[in-house]
Amino acid sequence: MKLLVVGSGGREHAIAKKLLESKSVEKVFVAPGNSGMLADGLELVNINISEHSSLIAFAQKEEIAWTFVGPDDALAAGLVDDFEAAGLLAFGPRKNAAELEWSKDFAKSIMTKYGVPTAGYETFSDFEAAKAYIEAKGAPIVVKADGLALGKGVVVAETVEEAVAAAHDMLLDNKFGDSGARVVIEEFLTGEEFSLFAFVNGEDFYLMPTAQDHKRAFDNDKGPNTGGMGAYAPVPHLPASAVARSVAEIIRPILKGMVAEGRPYLGVLYAGLILTADGPKVIEFNARFGDPETQIILPRLTSDFAAGITDLLAGKVPTFTWLERGVTLGVVVASEGYPLNYEKGVRLPAKTSGEIETYYAGAALNAKQELVSNGGRVYMLVTTQETVSQAQKVIYQQLEQQNTTGMFYRTDIGNKANK
Ligand code: AMP
Ligand code: GLY
Repeated sequence: MKLLVVGSGGREHAIAKKLLESKSVEKVFVAPGNSGMLADGLELVNINISEHSSLIAFAQKEEIAWTFVGPDDALAAGLVDDFEAAGLLAFGPRKNAAELEWSKDFAKSIMTKYGVPTAGYETFSDFEAAKAYIEAKGAPIVVKADGLALGKGVVVAETVEEAVAAAHDMLLDNKFGDSGARVVIEEFLTGEEFSLFAFVNGEDFYLMPTAQDHKRAFDNDKGPNTGGMGAYAPVPHLPASAVARSVAEIIRPILKGMVAEGRPYLGVLYAGLILTADGPKVIEFNARFGDPETQIILPRLTSDFAAGITDLLAGKVPTFTWLERGVTLGVVVASEGYPLNYEKGVRLPAKTSGEIETYYAGAALNAKQELVSNGGRVYMLVTTQETVSQAQKVIYQQLEQQNTTGMFYRTDIGNKANK
């Protein structure tokens, strides 16, 4: 069969590459993809993720068996609903289920309704009321734009002044446009953060290995928040009881709640969790795979990926099995200046082979047909080894040999696991 993956980042590279390994798959198209994917035999389709009717026409013309939708904005824009309306299969939540990600207020209210543990909160559209709430609660406190804001709509404020300024930016200065027309203000939680992903159909779910992302730009969790600078899976120091509690107290009740609300969930559910003294709590839900987590989770899948998704889409019980040994770790190389303004057009090192996989995100071909940087996060090196420190050694030795002029990477990915 032929498949289509929608999106262009490292996440979509990893999804598409893994799908192409499946026995029953002859071709994987990626729309729009990036030129770094070509070396893995993937086919790029020059259609933007917002052009729903062109994507549908392409899927019909190529007789695509089903489409895997990667990015949050495509899901929030109802791409899956539009595919379904055209009689096509797409893997990802419908718009009303993806609301778990595209409205933080919706996510908080459904968590409250179904007893899913999360930070205490209130939602505001009036600045004066938000300010009064912040002053009453005190700092530290967290201010979040309600809608999608490319991971930038969250301010963890150390002081009341900083929190009030964030609410001002969002509610009065419209810094995040419509996304910030409402803000969720919530209690600051402390504990270790980790992510739990599952393939979901309604109330049925199939858990993936635990993962830990590194969201800040620089070493020791300094600098601005980014989409993620590196990750590893599974998280070896996470107690099994934390995962068991997360499943019982978070994953099961939220999926049950979504079905009860008439918004059955189909797709990948991403729970961003924090292990507090009171047990695991939800920081956020995402309605999709994570980037860079996908690039370190999917290499651990030992069953046939396309067969698993095909079964889920058909309402059958799928088989997903995972590598039990070792750890998979990856480090992102980003353009200098990311997540703010950054350079483009830097020539990239050759793709790795053997025990190190390269996944491309912001990569393009220049006029001489050379692969150059073309985005914030550019590429990611990933390896699977027995331990975190062995994986770090393999990746960092390779990075030292590569010419990363004009780009940067964190040198401490995975260090929390070594403590
Ligand atoms: P998000 O975009 O919701 O993942 O938030 C970005 C980061 O802000 C998270 O990874 C956390 O480190 C931090 N954060 C968000 N909400 C809270 C909270 N209630 N308490 C403490 N940290 C938080
Ligand atoms: N790695 C964070 C995200 O995908 O949202």
